[in-house]
Amino acid sequence: MDLPFDGAISAYFENDAPEPIRQAIKRYDKGDILNPSYPYSERMSGKTYEKDLRALQIELVNMQAWAKATGARIVCLFEGRDAAGKGGTIKRFRENLNPRGANVIALPTPNNREQGQWYFQRYIDHLPAPGEIVFYDRSWYNRAVVEHVFGFCTPSEREQFFAQVGDLEKMLVADGIHLFKFWLNVGRAEQLRRFIDREQDLLKQWKISNIDVNGLAKWDDYSEAISETFLRTHTDFAPWTVIRSDDKRRARLAAMRKVVSCIDYDRKSKTAIGAIDDKICGGPDIWD
Ligand code: ADP
Ligand code: MLT
Repeated sequence: MDLPFDGAISAYFENDAPEPIRQAIKRYDKGDILNPSYPYSERMSGKTYEKDLRALQIELVNMQAWAKATGARIVCLFEGRDAAGKGGTIKRFRENLNPRGANVIALPTPNNREQGQWYFQRYIDHLPAPGEIVFYDRSWYNRAVVEHVFGFCTPSEREQFFAQVGDLEKMLVADGIHLFKFWLNVGRAEQLRRFIDREQDLLKQWKISNIDVNGLAKWDDYSEAISETFLRTHTDFAPWTVIRSDDKRRARLAAMRKVVSCIDYDRKSKTAIGAIDDKICGGPDIWD
């Protein structure tokens, strides 16, 4: 049982967090963006967000209808540090979709049986059938980042992963699957602030795990693992889309906009979709 984490996060904040991070959080006002490299100084207003969200959700509904009619298969894979906003983004994607045919796959820690299988096997089980959209909340990239940072896999298992992942993704794409690989990028102070919120909110405490608490001190190890992952897995056939996620609203809209921009479904409205904001949504070059 992981809960409750009474005080582990606040204790880290008080005793161990780097001083600039602590200062940024102390100065925090609702609406402030904590990440100094974020391209906007303010969060998006609720009004603009709700308007764009509605327009994009209508596009997603049309996209799902098209997928069901044509048998298209879509995979949206979400990666990012803890509290980057993966779950919240997926929730908005699915809010107005028919849940039958829009599955979320958030696999638990591999059990004994799974640990002896080919690493990709349990993920492949959940790939979409015709007409389906699958959202992976974390994915096979666990091996490249979190498993590596925590020593849950050996270096040679990780090398094996890198040796195989390109071929796997190439096969999925060659078979006609529309594959999106999203990396949600959250700054260090913003991540910590979200953990503190979670610790204080009885409805959100379940989201905090040992990995989150112990991961706080491993920020730089994560950075190194992420950077290497981009170098080795950002390919022409399966590129990463990096989304700056310090403002959750902009991030959610950006991910949706990316998907509906890239897929040619019936009744698509380019006006409703709007332009991709390349300061928020781009390739690994906008990750930091
Ligand atoms: P989440 O962020 O998805 O809520 P956690 O932060 O607890 O979950 O864990 C991050 C990821 O690390 C999860 O996908 C989890 O399955 C994985 N993980 C945790 N422990 C292990 C382990 N012993 N071996 C392999 N993977 C693990
Ligand atoms: C996220 O917010 O990115 C995840 O879905 C939840 C978590 O990090 O614990």
